[in-house]
This record gives sequence, C-alpha cells and structure tokens, in this order.
Amino acid sequence: MTAARLRSLKGQGPPIAALTAYDYPLTKLLDRAGVPLILVGDSLGMVVLGYPDTTLVTMADMEHHIRAAARARPRALLVGDLPYRSYETPEAAVANARRLVAAGAEAVKAEGGGEILPQIRAIIAAGIPFMGHIGMLPQHILEEGKYRVKGKDDAGRAKLLADAAALAGAGVFAVVLELVAPSVAREITARSPFVTIGIGAGPDCDGQILVTTDLFGTSPDFIPKHVALRPDLAGKMRAVVQEWIASLTPPTLS
Ligand code: KIV
Repeated sequence: MTAARLRSLKGQGPPIAALTAYDYPLTKLLDRAGVPLILVGDSLGMVVLGYPDTTLVTMADMEHHIRAAARARPRALLVGDLPYRSYETPEAAVANARRLVAAGAEAVKAEGGGEILPQIRAIIAAGIPFMGHIGMLPQHILEEGKYRVKGKDDAGRAKLLADAAALAGAGVFAVVLELVAPSVAREITARSPFVTIGIGAGPDCDGQILVTTDLFGTSPDFIPKHVALRPDLAGKMRAVVQEWIASLTPPTLS
C-alpha cells in the first residue's frame, strides 16, 4: 500500500480499515489480517507505556516503536505519529518527520488543521506523505480537560470545515476525524479529495480506525464508548494464565 493508492480508494468499495500497532508481532498480525493502514500512534503512551496521556510521548519513544513495527515489513501503509511538541515550526516538523521515516514510517501524522499548515506544507514539500488529524486532539488534552465531541455547534462545524479545506489544499492523502459530530464528518467526507478515517465520528467516513487494544478489549485502563465490539480478550488471556498456573505441578525432587 502507498499513500497515493490509499487516497485513490476514496469512493471505491468497502470502508478502509485502519488500526494501531506498536510492535513487531501486532504489526504482523494486522498485516496478515489484511489491514491496509497501520498507524504507530502516540496512543502507545497510554496503552503500552503507562503514561496518563499522549503529551509525555517522545520522539525516541516513537522511533523505537516504529522500528519494531517496520521490522514486520507490512504490505500495509505504515504511518508514524509525530509526538507532542515535535512539530512546532516547519523546520522541526521536517527534521522530526525525516527521523520517523528513517525509523521505517512511510507517512507521518500530526494533530491540527489551519494552525499547523506551514508545518504540513513543509513536510509534504520534503516528499513525505502526510495524514491529518482534526476534531478532538489528544495532544491538547491538558488545555481541553476532557475528550469531547467536536462540531456540535455552528462555530465548531465552521472550524472543522475550514481545517478540512486547508488540509485538502495542502495535499494530504488522508485525515483522521476524531470525535467529530457525525453530520460534520459526513459533510467533510463528501466535500474532500482525501480519505477520511473516522474514530467516534459516525459511519459516514471513507474508513474507520481504532486503537487496537480497545478493539481487543486489552487496553489497560478504559475502553472508549465508540468501540462497538467488546470481545474481552483480556479476560480470555487472564483465564489462560490462570489455567497455566493451575496446571503446574510441584517438582519431584527425590
Ligand atoms: O495515536 C493514535 O492511536 C491515534 C488514533 C486514535 C487515530 O491518533
């Protein structure tokens, strides 16, 4: 998969399925399952590293996990997240995007719309495919206070439409719409040349993404409301561990 090919899937066939992976075995598993877009997301801060939110994730964390995922050599497009404060200027954005590409990412993602347009333009001008992320921005959780749906009022809707138009103008191939009011997600999907990948943004997006540990039911602290399937693999894994413990027999020493 390439960014250009992914973009060409807009309006063609079934929804694009995207999931997160943070290491070699999970990337292999998702790739073998046929997932076309795998994101090494900074959600790894919460679901792998035990941080309270994504603002503590560093470039070194991202490089380490992207390297591990890239060793699986997936057929899927491997996208890496630029972490908090790693893209404050166009120069920093390009330098850090290049680091993620050197680690094995084939495209990068950063959070924001019009306010980071110079950074996005610089990354694309450097030849690195870029995936946008608008709506609820987890890297802004400290200012926002909580994870809430965006675009429910006129001002919120207008801001999202303006951000989507700015990203389209910059030439992004895809945009994550996180916790966007479904009617606005639908409007952005209909108007935009890029593929929209929703998370908690209703069904009318070109594709959907989930944090894979939420899909599996193995996220350590909570599972968001928008995750429909609840297979509780954590419960099954716990049962396997307990079954194994129960199967152990004392050593016969004499
Ligand atoms: O970091 C991440 O996993 C993400 C997805 C939730 C889109 O940005």
